[in-house]
Amino acid sequence: MDKEEQDRLKKLAAVKAAELVKPKMKLGVGTGSTVAFLIAELGRRKKEEGLELAAVVTTSSRSKKQLESYGFQVDELATVDQLDLTIDGADRIAANFDGIKGGGGALTMEKNVAVNSRQVVWIVDESKMVDHLSGFPLPVEVLPISCEQNFKLFQAEGLNPKWRLTGNKRFVTHYGNYIIDLNIDPIPVPSGLADYLDHTVGVVEHGLFLGMCNEVIIAHVNGNIEDRK
Ligand code: 5RP
Repeated sequence: MDKEEQDRLKKLAAVKAAELVKPKMKLGVGTGSTVAFLIAELGRRKKEEGLELAAVVTTSSRSKKQLESYGFQVDELATVDQLDLTIDGADRIAANFDGIKGGGGALTMEKNVAVNSRQVVWIVDESKMVDHLSGFPLPVEVLPISCEQNFKLFQAEGLNPKWRLTGNKRFVTHYGNYIIDLNIDPIPVPSGLADYLDHTVGVVEHGLFLGMCNEVIIAHVNGNIEDRK
């Protein structure tokens, strides 16, 4: 699928998901090119229908800037008790709704927003759907203080680590950390790997989002928009 076609599908999924957003909701908004279409649609609704939300929390400075450009006031997650709904993109989604996220490097904020949301909806084009998690490197955010040790440990464990780069420099996250992408394809036991990473000192967060999503909106090449729950 070329980029133009993929963007067409991303927009279809995003506009469909925007229908789930009701006035006075406390809304979580994710990050990425699919979410950019969602924010544009919310902006349109604000302008044309006067959509007002009780709170809006987002997961990157990029999404924050876009939301603010449409006149939404963006809140800090810590000031909002629980979000009603979060809509986000994903890099891969398995049949059981486990996902890989963090392609844009915003995984730590994304996971914090997801676990503090009553309902989590992911919006994707059909190319992101897989039977078992595969086909995308798994991002792991690590503290600079022990990042070299983490990298060597992942090498020794056979997890095929690669530094995420921007140009020839290491990618730096919102929180000043680095990202190591693990190249394991497919991920044989996601829960086992998540447990290992959760217990590795120096790992801030990882892109395995297991059991966190309730609904997936998938745009298909044939124009169908599937709402899977
Ligand atoms: C960012 C993410 C994004 O949701 C994911 O990478 C999908 O992005 P896109 O909609 O641009 O394909 O997890 O950290």
